[in-house]
Amino acid sequence: MVSLGPGDIDLVTIKALEVLKSVEAVCVPTKSSDLSFKKSLTFKILKSLMQKHNFKKPIVPVYSPMRFKLEDWEAEANILIETTQEYKRVAFVTLGDAGIYSSVYYLLERIKDRDFSLYQNSEVVAGVTSFSDASAKVKKPLCLGDSALEIIPLLDKEVAKTKIFMRPKIGMDTKDIQEEGEVYTFENLNFKDEKIYSKKLQKVERYMTLFIDFFKG
Ligand SMILES: C[S@@+](CC[C@H](N)C(=O)[O-])C[C@H]1O[C@@H](n2cnc3c(N)ncnc32)[C@H](O)[C@@H]1O
Repeated sequence: MVSLGPGDIDLVTIKALEVLKSVEAVCVPTKSSDLSFKKSLTFKILKSLMQKHNFKKPIVPVYSPMRFKLEDWEAEANILIETTQEYKRVAFVTLGDAGIYSSVYYLLERIKDRDFSLYQNSEVVAGVTSFSDASAKVKKPLCLGDSALEIIPLLDKEVAKTKIFMRPKIGMDTKDIQEEGEVYTFENLNFKDEKIYSKKLQKVERYMTLFIDFFKG
């Protein structure tokens, strides 16, 4: 599951590029029922990326009508599963970052139900979000000093929230971090001694610690 970033091919991560170069096929979402890529931004980014970095892969269209229906996610997950039966390693590409309102997690849920070993062998590659790019373009921070960031879906209803807690003090007690969903603790991500706990640590041991209280659907 490869995040492609906000549309600027130079904001595709090196990891995403390496994965795309290494897979045998790329599954690309399209809203067109004729399976063409006329309206697919994802396809445009992928094509430019292939041109710039001199590689080519078979492209498999994944009809994604954006109706948020279970049967659609199932049909899309089926295409991914079938593609992995034809090719060994397969990428599915998504705009921005996979963690932000992407179909990736609907698809992974379906894949988990249908083919658990494929789910276990899958990987999500993080990417640059549209709002990180927007912030950089206008040189305005998303949060700084004593401020916070909220991501609000424009829906006419209350929604469950994911909360990210960062910048802790070493030694602090985490009792004030309320657990509403599912809390994970991340320490020293990608550095020596990286640790990921599927719980809230009671005491902060390192500055490079963040907690995510993932929403419960
Ligand atoms: C389904 S969400 C996907 C978000 C994406 N995964 C990300 O990390 O930014 C689509 C929404 O993200 C925002 N968005 C995504 N790409 C954008 C862009 N290039 N320019 C402006 N807004 C964008 C818009 O609000 C759009 O309705």
